[in-house]
Amino acid sequence: MKAKNFDLEALDRDYLFHPITNLKSHITQDVLILERGEGIYIFDKDGKKYIDGLAGLWCTSLGHGVTELADAAKEQMSKLGYSTLFASKSHEPAILLAEKLIEMSPFSSGKVFFGLSGSDSNDTQYKLFTYANNKLGKEKKKKMIARKKGYHGVTVTSASMTGLPNQHKLFDLPQENFIHTETPHYFKEGKEGETEEDYVRRLSETLEKTILDEGPESIAAMIAEPLMGAGGVILPPKGYFPAIQDVLDKFDIPLIVDEVVTAFGRTGNAFGSETYEIKPTSMTIAKALSSGYIPISAVIVNDELFEPIKEASGDIGVFGHGYTYSGHPVSCAVALKTLEIYERDKVFQHAKKVGEYFQNSIKEILEEDYVGEVRGIGLIAGIELYKDPLNKIAFEEAGKAGKILSDTCQKNGLIVRPILDTVALCPPLIISEKEVDELTDKLKKSLQEAKDEIMKVH
Ligand SMILES: Cc1ncc(COP(=O)(O)O)c(C=O)c1O
Repeated sequence: MKAKNFDLEALDRDYLFHPITNLKSHITQDVLILERGEGIYIFDKDGKKYIDGLAGLWCTSLGHGVTELADAAKEQMSKLGYSTLFASKSHEPAILLAEKLIEMSPFSSGKVFFGLSGSDSNDTQYKLFTYANNKLGKEKKKKMIARKKGYHGVTVTSASMTGLPNQHKLFDLPQENFIHTETPHYFKEGKEGETEEDYVRRLSETLEKTILDEGPESIAAMIAEPLMGAGGVILPPKGYFPAIQDVLDKFDIPLIVDEVVTAFGRTGNAFGSETYEIKPTSMTIAKALSSGYIPISAVIVNDELFEPIKEASGDIGVFGHGYTYSGHPVSCAVALKTLEIYERDKVFQHAKKVGEYFQNSIKEILEEDYVGEVRGIGLIAGIELYKDPLNKIAFEEAGKAGKILSDTCQKNGLIVRPILDTVALCPPLIISEKEVDELTDKLKKSLQEAKDEIMKVH
């Protein structure tokens, strides 16, 4: 350890290799060093207070400083700090958590496979479908349909599912077998005079054409988030999921739902699948499963997918996939406590109610003359800035206006996330109406203050 009054910023620049960061500008840019949190607030090392407007990274649903979660971790660490699930070993926290997840999820029965991150669980998804299809003699079924702007993670496979160029460039990704279909964004992509219904029909037809062009027998599954988070908080148009599921059903293609951001109350229901009438074959969850307090993720599969996997592992002698930390007892204990708090404190019901208030409050900023679209549901929203909102003309220098607004928000004590020219909001689910008012006041103030600078952006 260094001396007490060390220069953390300098040490950060000397030693830390930051994920998802402009590593070059990081050398000259201010580094926000956070120290502690309490409820929806976080405090930096100098004591400045911020609203955590993105719940960490779309994850701290219960807010900060929840000592019950710390106590659950401490208790489990003291009792059994580590134990594996390999080779038929097991432990109570993993068993009870798996049971609870099946009970809560849209699956009436099924199995839960634990991982540590959304990325590794989406990798697992791909491997499960490959494994099952090979066992079923469907060796050609290897392709995965994902969507442009979808975000599924950064491992080689999950980054291949991700439909964002910056997760591909120079990494030689996506790998072959990954196909990206259209982003369902009616405001932006809908044609003049096209109704939302027509637009959904067009998207389904495009999907069907893609499937036919690729060969339906070659497609293992489609993966989709109920709403796109990291792609810019893009909500599906009305009727989108039932329509695309009709197309998938026609060709016997299962749907994997990536609920890493949407699970556990974010859209006002327990799962985004409920909100958007999705009937998945398997589901990925992470983040709010532990309120972001400890790494844990899971893949939940239905019995139909599990069956051939079980049989194949019997033939081979082992199911050759799993992580040292799959079902880590401490992570499972913290997740169990998180789910207990959700239920006890009626957190999803609260999120639904405050979510409506939040959506109404932020809609007011549409009046600002460089705000094009305010979209959201429950406690998640995206505010997209346009050079000329009336004519839907975007900024040529994409990303500049979003960064100016997000920096201004940060200066005013509100952490948001710029995604090009969309500013994302995803506060902890425990936020109160009074705190929503505080958040919107800071946002409005920042929109005013940033106006002159943003107007100069081309
Ligand atoms: C929908 C979705 N899937 C997967 C991931 C990847 O999760 P992780 O960062 O835990 O690997 C994310 C991360 O934000 C996500 O939003």
